[in-house]
Amino acid sequence: MKAGCSQLQPVVLILIFNLCFYGSFQLTGPQVCELCGGSVLNGSEVGKFCASSAGRINGRCCFQNNNTYGPERIIGLDLSNCSLTHVEDLQEASKALMIDLSLNPLVNISDAVFQGFIELNHMILPQEIFCPGGNTSWEKVEVNEGNRICQGQKDVCNQTGQLSIECPENSLCGPYGPGFFECSCAENYHGYKCLREGEFPALQVFGPLGASTVVLSFLLWFTQRRKVKPL
Ligand SMILES: *[C@@H]1O[C@H](CO)[C@@H](O)[C@H](O)[C@H]1NC(C)=O
Ligand SMILES: *[C@@H]1O[C@H](CO)[C@@H](O)[C@H](O)[C@H]1NC(C)=O
Ligand SMILES: *[C@@H]1O[C@H](CO)[C@@H](O)[C@H](O)[C@H]1NC(C)=O
Ligand SMILES: *[C@@H]1O[C@H](CO)[C@@H](O)[C@H](O)[C@H]1NC(C)=O
Ligand SMILES: *[C@@H]1O[C@H](CO)[C@@H](O)[C@H](O)[C@H]1NC(C)=O
Ligand SMILES: *[C@@H]1O[C@H](CO)[C@@H](O)[C@H](O)[C@H]1NC(C)=O
Repeated sequence: MKAGCSQLQPVVLILIFNLCFYGSFQLTGPQVCELCGGSVLNGSEVGKFCASSAGRINGRCCFQNNNTYGPERIIGLDLSNCSLTHVEDLQEASKALMIDLSLNPLVNISDAVFQGFIELNHMILPQEIFCPGGNTSWEKVEVNEGNRICQGQKDVCNQTGQLSIECPENSLCGPYGPGFFECSCAENYHGYKCLREGEFPALQVFGPLGASTVVLSFLLWFTQRRKVKPL
């Protein structure tokens, strides 16, 4: 018995070492799914959405089961009843279609948290929290059983009657999350305010956003514009 025990120890140690070693390098999933314990409940909104999208639940996330395109994508995030007092970084879920933050003692959430969340189409928030980007950024906003529900993200680039958004010449306005937009240089234009014409060497980097389209942050352009003296 004793001999068997001491022979086992190195094996156990190696096992533990391997678990720790590989655990930190290979097994770490998106941290946002472990922001609190438990997992997406079948009966919850995200649970139902996940089932209808044939997704896979892991912790508080619903992953798209179909991985033919690059890395795994979080399509639903359920942080309901998580005792969250503030929310700062949800970038790992920036491609989510649905996010539930209900039943959390939140005071406010910065709109910037959802910058770049282009596909976000359904949010459930505590009643006290306004929809990111304000009511005008959503097709439908309602308060129901203590939750605020924001549905159907509007494209700020395409709002008749609203303050019209002007992207610099030779650039196109595109949505960039609730209340946000970005200006991308039109085909064959690049550089500061899209003034230069011709091929841009880093085109491949921006490839997924559209052939020969180079993204220019409108904010960057805006702040830089102010530093340039008018001719
Ligand atoms: C939730 O759904 C999964 C898959 O459909 C099932 O395996 C699991 O038992 C369900 N859990 C509950 C609590 O209903
Ligand atoms: C995977 O998703 C893409 C687009 O989302 C779709 O075109 C394709 O048919 C899907 N493949 C499978 C096996 O579901
Ligand atoms: C929230 O979580 C607490 C403990 O984690 C649980 O007792 C309670 O039933 C949950 N509330 C809801 C509405 O799920
Ligand atoms: C809401 O957030 C802003 C900026 O993050 C902060 O200045 C403000 O004090 C917050 N409001 C409340 C009521 O906590
Ligand atoms: C947004 O809409 C909700 C629900 O219709 C309403 O309760 C709320 O006061 C509106 N907020 C603003 C800032 O207009
Ligand atoms: C712009 O808005 C109109 C009406 O709201 C809609 O019919 C049209 O499809 C929208 N265009 C885009 C590119 O979203």
